[in-house]
Amino acid sequence: MSKYYVTTPIYYVNDVPHIGHAYTTIAADVLARYHRRLGDDVFFLTGTDEHGAKIAEAAAKHGVTPKQFVDTIVERFKEAWKALEVSNDFFVRTSDPHHEAGVANFLERLYASGDLYKGTYEGLYCVGCEQFKTEEDLVNGLCPYHNVKPIWYSEENYFFRLSRYQDSLLRALTDPSDPNHYLVKPTSRFNEVLGKIRLGLSDLSISRASLAWGVPLPFDPSQVVYVWIDALLNYVTAIGYPDDMKHFHRYWPADQHLMAKDILWFHAILWPAMLIAAGLRPPRAVFAHGFFTIGGQRMSKTLGNVIAPSDLVARFGADGARYLLVTDFPFGTDGDFNLDNLVTRYNAELANDLGNLINRTVSMVNRYTEGAVPSPGALTEADAEVKAMATAMFEQIDRALDDLDFVTAADAIRAVVSRANRYVEETAPWKLAKGDLERLTTVLYVLVETERLVGVALWPFMPATSEKVLDELGVAGQLSRTWGVTPVGSRVSAQPRPLFPRIEIGAGLTH
Ligand code: MSP
Repeated sequence: MSKYYVTTPIYYVNDVPHIGHAYTTIAADVLARYHRRLGDDVFFLTGTDEHGAKIAEAAAKHGVTPKQFVDTIVERFKEAWKALEVSNDFFVRTSDPHHEAGVANFLERLYASGDLYKGTYEGLYCVGCEQFKTEEDLVNGLCPYHNVKPIWYSEENYFFRLSRYQDSLLRALTDPSDPNHYLVKPTSRFNEVLGKIRLGLSDLSISRASLAWGVPLPFDPSQVVYVWIDALLNYVTAIGYPDDMKHFHRYWPADQHLMAKDILWFHAILWPAMLIAAGLRPPRAVFAHGFFTIGGQRMSKTLGNVIAPSDLVARFGADGARYLLVTDFPFGTDGDFNLDNLVTRYNAELANDLGNLINRTVSMVNRYTEGAVPSPGALTEADAEVKAMATAMFEQIDRALDDLDFVTAADAIRAVVSRANRYVEETAPWKLAKGDLERLTTVLYVLVETERLVGVALWPFMPATSEKVLDELGVAGQLSRTWGVTPVGSRVSAQPRPLFPRIEIGAGLTH
């Protein structure tokens, strides 16, 4: 058994969750569920980033303390993930005392190893990004992400000797035999990261004198830890660092950090350098997916096009929302969500292809063999072809998910569903029922077994649907990936229930 530790970014709680957050979280959930089914010892982590100027400002705007504010918003994230059947093993909050103690411990370690020094920071800072900016980062003097002018900062701070780790990072990235080796994916992002390191790394200010909402530096409590240093450490405190090192070593290094390209620098450069400085291994892999727009526009409050995860769940159900989000465009590239297009895909791929296939099979088993799965005869060439496709599907899924290619994995399942629908048309069981009962029983068995395998394969993407499919076919809990597991005589559902009610185009979302 191998272990598999997968993480999402911890999201800022200055506002409620939207489907940008859901996108990464669902992707991580698919991976977590997939690895659990492989029998791996999985730890799936998500959580919230609760300190820093951005959160303190949002709380002040609402006239409450930061702690009161984050305690309310965090519930919205938890509810959203619950509604989407997200199966995280732990939910980390950076305002949690255990996390705060871990941050202090880690900084103490960096201080002791000579990786921190006192200096003066002067420059620009975007509170929206919680990030230092250079003139080159700005467009017409504004932060391109938040359309605001960064503030001028001048403070005595502690600095992390990031520049010291330039060579170690280059080696770790490019030499697979380096003990600190880690991967950055996709390749275009890897090249981007390599380019940035080669340009040279500057030391980084890692504390704030003028902010109270954060973790005090253990060696100088007049300053709090910079929110990004605090946040990145969630990946180790959540698994037990520093007081439960047994649990920590069970899962560290993380196997997969997921995020979008906006925060790749922190995960692929700063974080590995911090870990190496503290004598810990970098994560094994960092994957930055793309950013999506809605109908061609950035999601933003001002444009009024922010979609809440609950809107999608209300429209498509949890499984529909999961499936449509994570398979709409290749993971790793930018994409655009078009709501009408999602409805079209839902109706075609889920209601028609998948829903109808299960429904008609269950109906036919009820009609022709009294609801009991019949014993198959010898397989013909056409039967064998369907069988071969259904069993090969898992190898395709394994390969695709190893590469975080959710689209190709889902395509492999869809191809089997389409083939099975065509098989129904070609074999026409309603005609066989009038004379060729031997052939009819074989066809029905091939269909049930193929659909059982489809049901098994669907679980990481659509857990409730997967379970419903197996229930409908009367094979709940029969999770083997090999052919021929459906027991002859098992009883399909007496009344087929529609899996995906059709949706009208243009009905819009619920808000
Ligand atoms: N708090 C930091 C992360 C700290 S991790 C140690 C943060 N939070 S965030 O709330 O801004 O979340 C950013 C992440 O949300 C992105 O990296 C991505 O995972 C997800 N997305 C937010 N909007 C998105 C899109 N429009 N498209 C794709 N992903 C999106 O940064």
